[in-house]
Amino acid sequence: MNEQRPIGVFDSGVGGSSIWQEIHALLPYEHTIYLADSKNAPYGNKSKEEITRLSIKNTEVLLEMGAKIIVVACNTATTNSISEMRERFKVPIIGIEPAIKPAALNTSTKSIGILATKGTLTSDLFHKTATEFTQDINVVEIVGEGLVPLIEAGTLDSPKMIKLLQKYLTPMVKAKVDYLVLGCSHYPYLIPQIRNLIPNDIVIIDSGMAVARQTKSILERLQLLRTDVSKPTLKFYTNSEVKTLKFLLKDFSEEISVEKKDF
Ligand code: SIN
Repeated sequence: MNEQRPIGVFDSGVGGSSIWQEIHALLPYEHTIYLADSKNAPYGNKSKEEITRLSIKNTEVLLEMGAKIIVVACNTATTNSISEMRERFKVPIIGIEPAIKPAALNTSTKSIGILATKGTLTSDLFHKTATEFTQDINVVEIVGEGLVPLIEAGTLDSPKMIKLLQKYLTPMVKAKVDYLVLGCSHYPYLIPQIRNLIPNDIVIIDSGMAVARQTKSILERLQLLRTDVSKPTLKFYTNSEVKTLKFLLKDFSEEISVEKKDF
């Protein structure tokens, strides 16, 4: 099979493009469409019902554009709404969850940190995973309040950003965590800033690579891979300004198109 339909990816905003980068690295010939729902970002403080409504709307837009699979590149949308989405839509739906399991299995200090949104940390799915894997482990859960709007604005190095990161990371360093789980797809864009604020031996993990691997394996299993080796179409749509997406994806500027669109 040579399946030409695109992989559809959405996020509450620009952050899921960190996941898109992993998918594109692993599946370089796949056509992709990315939706950044930046007009409604952040999702992290919204109700489960509202997050589900927005996730359904984004999925419908991607399906209208012909997506063969949906990647929910947003931890908050996954942890709150993925079961409702899977019940509603027939296409395969891949989600992203905080990488608690590898952190819990590998920690030597028996102390791990997780930085995520309020929506993710209070979700049933997160609690289920945390209860299963962190029985004898100290988990320092911190809500990264205010980080997503600053990333959406593209102000990664602003004094406000550094001050917030210092506030959120200090309790983790004090608790001697040796793994820091980034539980929001926006946060990988802050790795250089975070690295400057924590000891070198703390391992930072996110779930981007795992999501890419899972996407590939599902496409293989369902025989939905594109087998051409010609240049794919890589489309990005945002319902807000294009500036931050273009800035975060500047390394791909020759390959991608970024447009504003109402959805
Ligand atoms: C948010 O919109 O608040 C963050 C998205 C995420 O959890 O990945």
